[in-house]
Amino acid sequence: MIFLDYTLAENKIKNIVSRSSQILKDVVDFLYKNIDHYSWVGIYLVEGDNLVLGPWMGQQATEHTKIPIGKGICGSAAASGKTEIISDVKADDRYLACFISTKSEIVVPIKKEGKILGEIDIDSDIKDAFTFDDKKFLERIADMLGKHI
Ligand code: SME
Repeated sequence: MIFLDYTLAENKIKNIVSRSSQILKDVVDFLYKNIDHYSWVGIYLVEGDNLVLGPWMGQQATEHTKIPIGKGICGSAAASGKTEIISDVKADDRYLACFISTKSEIVVPIKKEGKILGEIDIDSDIKDAFTFDDKKFLERIADMLGKHI
């Protein structure tokens, strides 16, 4: 016979459910701490017609915690489902400024079975910081995350 304490069971299930957001946070922390040219790392999640900021790491918080799909670099990537690499943010009219120090940006959609669930957004203080290798690497990470959201 199994003794089931519902409060205990609920807390255990709460832990299981919250692990997915912990996974996102751990990946953000890893990317920020281990890759020098990643100056700010965040994950936005799709909620209705908006992107809502989830876990992030960087020197400063961004004011753009909610971005309509279609707006900015983030919103464009969420609308198209394609990775955006912006070598010079000042030269892109869509750019929504967050930090004075940012020079370049990459946004990689996170998908599950073709559906866009969110994206990895990385700012760099270095101009033209993101290469094809960053793109391929981050797209593989986004694939992994798509399985856990
Ligand atoms: N620059 C983004 C907004 C998010 S911040 O970089 C954190 C954009 O243009 O959508």
